[in-house]
Order: sequence, then C-alpha cells, then structure tokens
Amino acid sequence: LYRRGAGVPPALQVDNLDAAAPADPRPAAGVIGAGHVGAMTALRLAETSLFSRVTLVDIVPGLAAGLALDMGHSASLRGFTTRIEGSAELSALAGADYIVVTAGRPRQPGMSRTDLTGVNGSIVTAVAQGIRLYAPDSVVVVVTNPLEEMTHLTARTTGFPPQRVIGMAGVLDSARFCSLVALTGVARPQDVSAIALGSHGPEMVIPMSQATVNGRPLEEALPADQIDAIVERARDSGAEVVKLLQKGSAYFAPAESAAAMVIDMVRESSRVQAACVQSSGAYGLEDTRVGLPVRLGRRGVREIVALALTASERTALAKAASSIAARVREMG
Ligand code: LMR
Repeated sequence: LYRRGAGVPPALQVDNLDAAAPADPRPAAGVIGAGHVGAMTALRLAETSLFSRVTLVDIVPGLAAGLALDMGHSASLRGFTTRIEGSAELSALAGADYIVVTAGRPRQPGMSRTDLTGVNGSIVTAVAQGIRLYAPDSVVVVVTNPLEEMTHLTARTTGFPPQRVIGMAGVLDSARFCSLVALTGVARPQDVSAIALGSHGPEMVIPMSQATVNGRPLEEALPADQIDAIVERARDSGAEVVKLLQKGSAYFAPAESAAAMVIDMVRESSRVQAACVQSSGAYGLEDTRVGLPVRLGRRGVREIVALALTASERTALAKAASSIAARVREMG
C-alpha cells in the first residue's frame, strides 16, 4: 500500500486515491414514492446494474432509507452493482437522469381512478416542482393515477419538453392483455404480441390489426367473443386486483412495466412500446397526452410510430384522446 510521503508521487498518495477514481459513467435513476410500486420499481432497476445509483424518495421519515438499505443487502445474492439509496428529501434526486413518479394514493374498491384527481394532483404538483428544481435534465415516467391527468400535470409543472414526460400505462395494459391471451392456452405469453393504446381505463384501445400469436393474427387463433371478453378484462384488470386486495392496488405488473420503460430508454431498444405521450398531431388526434406507440431512447420519446390501424381503430383512438382532453380541461 502507498503511504503518504516516502517518494510516492502526490497523485498516488492515499488521500488522493478517491479523487483519482473514474466517475461511474452509468446513468442515475430516482423513484419517488416508496409504496409497493415504487419499492419494486427501484429494485427492478437496480437489479439490471444499468445504473450507478437508484435513489428512492418518500416523505415518510425513514421509509425510503430503510427499504433502500434492505434492498441493498440483496446485492450480493442477486449480483447487482447499482447502489440503492433512500431519502425523505427530493433534493436527493440531484443529478438523476431518469425519474419514476409513483407518489400518491392508490384507489380503493369501488373507486374510479379519476376519484384520485384531487388528492394525487396536489402530491404530484409538489413532486414535479422538486423534479424541476433538483433534476432539471431528467426524463420522467409517471405512474400515479389518474395516469393521463397526472402526466399532464407533471409536464405542465416541470415545463419539460414533451419527449421527457411520459406516462406508464400502455406497457402495463399491453402486458395484461398478452398474459390473459396466453392464459387461454393458445400460446406462451412471450409469443403473444399486442399493443394497448388510448386511455388507461374504459377507453383503452387494443387494435386487433396489431395483435398476433406466434406471428399470426390473433383473430385466427381465438373466436371473436373470446377476444372481446379478454379486451374487457384487460380494461378492468386494475379494478379486478383492487377488489381482490381490498386495500391498495396492483404493484408487481405496474412496477415491472415502469422499470421496462426506463430500461428500454437506457438500452435504446428498437421495441415499439405503448406510452402516454403528447400526441403532437400524430394520428390526426386532438392535442393531448394519450397512449400511443413509441420508440424510447436515452432522452425519452424517440419517435411516435405510425401503425397501420383500421378506420374503426383510429376512430376509437380519437374518441379516447377527446375524452382525455376533456378530463384534463376539467382538472383546470
Ligand atoms: C392498475 O391498473 O393496476 C393501476 O392503474 C392501479 C389501479 O388503480 O388500477
């Protein structure tokens, strides 16, 4: 070991070793809200080792720090090198490249997602002010419900460009639909492909023109009434879980979906994902934040993808966009 002095060049003296260590080139991620969705998202991100650190933030004193410490203890078992930190302060997000917002209340049985607009609106506004202040260059993925309204609020409060504020729901809704199709026994989950557009709720649009099983049209593999029933069930899957849990809402699939989006960004995946983004004239839709097919990249939305939708699918998408725009206007 080098000791101070004794002919050792100053740059190699013990006191200077830290300063000489190269900075970790990996991006940093933050997750706001340390409930089930937030904690699980943080762990999923950390487990990829794609990030230098994942910072979990929650207003409840000690919660994020305790969970982060606990997760960090699993690093040697899972073999990940991302450092997980926890804090009660949004300032801990300084330098974060990607932020996932899960803060807010979950709905309870009998509630609609829009019943959360008031309570979650105040929370998300405060959180977005913190993001603007401490992580002004970050890409933000919004998970808090009601999804479209909270994505809009985050974009408005941060003032970030549209590509950098993205709602997570399409990935979740698509995954639910594909998994439900696979449950019929027709194929393995990974061999079903479909995309859920429109809104995260009753106006979800799952275009059959894009749905396949083992590369063949889904409509050739299952009867129409069975497909319709699966579409309905996918639209209602969040409520189905809420009703069973009695307290709180789904978290395994939502966290997996949020993490998948951020991972796709970092890896610059060529995969087409559904995400709630500013329509900006795409598909001739009213200008609002609505579920559309996108490719993601390091700086958020790389492009909105033009799929060959049928006329009726386009009409359903336009209806979803108009109803989201009306809800956003109502929110004020
Ligand atoms: C979900 O779909 O699981 C989430 O949006 C939570 C909810 O309230 O359904």
